[in-house]
Amino acid sequence: MCAKIASRVALDSDSRVVTGIPGFDEMLEGGFPAGSLISLAGRPGTGKTIFGSQFLFFGAKELKEPGMYVSMLEGRKAYVRNMLRLGFDIQPLESKGLFRFLEMPTLTSEGMPAIWDEIVRNIDEYGIVRLVIDSFTAMTQAFERIGDLRVFTHMLLGKIVGGAGCTTLMITETAHTDVLSSVGIQEFIADGVIHFSLVPITGEARVRYIEITKMRGTNHQMGLLPVEIGNRGISVKVPHITAR
Ligand SMILES: Nc1ncnc2c1ncn2[C@@H]1O[C@H](COP(=O)(O)OP(=O)(O)OP(=O)(O)O)[C@@H](O)[C@H]1O
Ligand SMILES: [Mg+2]
Repeated sequence: MCAKIASRVALDSDSRVVTGIPGFDEMLEGGFPAGSLISLAGRPGTGKTIFGSQFLFFGAKELKEPGMYVSMLEGRKAYVRNMLRLGFDIQPLESKGLFRFLEMPTLTSEGMPAIWDEIVRNIDEYGIVRLVIDSFTAMTQAFERIGDLRVFTHMLLGKIVGGAGCTTLMITETAHTDVLSSVGIQEFIADGVIHFSLVPITGEARVRYIEITKMRGTNHQMGLLPVEIGNRGISVKVPHITAR
């Protein structure tokens, strides 16, 4: 098992996977390292689903790279509708085999190996190269013991990410009171970590940020990056340079 993980970490950091998220790729040498595992972490409503979906949509539409969204939380119908409101018309891409939505509603620790076999089967069958898993947190809830969770996490990441070579975004929901079992493990294993936040400023006003806290083999931007969510998805706000 360890050998599998070691081989997964030896990713090709020279080859980059363009996210297509405006303003973001230039913050990390042109995109995610090909074949990497990236953890997207943040509280509810901070933009993780939109970020992951935009990554898949851009890959499928602009680069003809097949992507798959694995959802443990939301059904296909609601997902397709929400994405359409952001201008991501997924259905035509589904018909062309460039986008796949895999619904995984019920999770038990006994059922987990079958779920992963199903994910791997889909990756192989559809030639998936971009993968989003929503969410790691939902999967962790199937395990009662931290030891089982660790074994499972190592196994699945070796098998899926290592075996298939997909660039994978794994969503983690964080809360005010972070439980050790649901945070941490995936951040050690991941090649990259992006934190999403919504910060109150004055009165009702809120500002959205993302922060790249880890990206193996990459000279990346440090600190909080202000982001915006609008009718066309998420984008990094590029600061205005004013001439003096
Ligand atoms: N068209 C839009 N214009 C502006 N903001 C929007 C628009 N559509 C969605 N949003 C914002 O994006 C948020 C949802 O983002 P997203 O679903 O990516 O969050 P999330 O981090 O996945 O949340 P959760 O953990 O609950 O799944 C909404 O709560 C809303 O604030
Ligand atoms: Mg979400």
